[in-house]
Amino acid sequence: MGDSEPHPEDRPVLFLDSGVGGLPYLSAAAAEFPNERFIYLADRLNFPYGERTPEEVRRAILAAAGEAVAAFRPKVSVVACNTASVVALDALREQYVLPFVGVVPAVKPAAEQSRSGRIGVLATARTVEDRYLLGLIERFAADCYVLSVAGGDIVTFVERRFFVSHADERRAVVQEAARRFCEARIDTVVLGCTHFLHVEHELADALGPDIRVIDSRAGVTRRLGAVLHEYGLARTPAQVDKRSERARASMYVTCASGDSLEADSLEAESEDYHRFAKQFGLTFSGGLRVEAR
Ligand code: DGL
Repeated sequence: MGDSEPHPEDRPVLFLDSGVGGLPYLSAAAAEFPNERFIYLADRLNFPYGERTPEEVRRAILAAAGEAVAAFRPKVSVVACNTASVVALDALREQYVLPFVGVVPAVKPAAEQSRSGRIGVLATARTVEDRYLLGLIERFAADCYVLSVAGGDIVTFVERRFFVSHADERRAVVQEAARRFCEARIDTVVLGCTHFLHVEHELADALGPDIRVIDSRAGVTRRLGAVLHEYGLARTPAQVDKRSERARASMYVTCASGDSLEADSLEAESEDYHRFAKQFGLTFSGGLRVEAR
């Protein structure tokens, strides 16, 4: 191994999403694995994945992952996006050699935890319609009543308005979904899109104390730990101490060739990205150019 070649364990863990949804997942992993370095890439160029065709989502996530793999040489990647995971996890694994950890709706834990056998899944339109989700329901919740609700409006709200919104607005945006789950007498709601974690308290309040809200953070963090150990890629404290570290966790967003983060349209957005990054303990590091395919 040459001097410029980093030790495999020193390479970062890459998190991918269409936007800011995956940040709570990264934050859970960073707390669990304090010796690791993290890169977060938000594919803002192709947001929202949930309103796109499967082919568009596949193309977008493959392109974003390709640029990130070339630029950061990650040792493992977490696809912190249910939509991209249900549509394109197989394609990512075929195309790139590193291990991928997917994030998919926590249907199995919901079926195990539900007392009444009445489960709600809140996800993007793409995920709600996808065969993968139907397969999860058939496999793990065959004896449950499952109501899947598409919440694309909540995704866009989180991505575009979260930091400028009032508490009232944040409460209002989850009302319709909460009403449908309450009317259907659901007792366990799965957050099947990572963006919803940013409004999980508002949703829990709207649902009331008798409805449990669950997500897949703990399972994904466990799976990431297992993969790091399986591949011998976990970094020990001694390895961290030996080398001087740059930022421990950095956030990038995709931008097109010719785009620049100083351009007018991006300047306002980057202020929000700075805020999101800071809230989750990351440094916002700007744009990563991704060629349109
Ligand atoms: N955060 C993504 C998910 O978990 C999708 C949001 C979007 O781009 O529509 O499904």
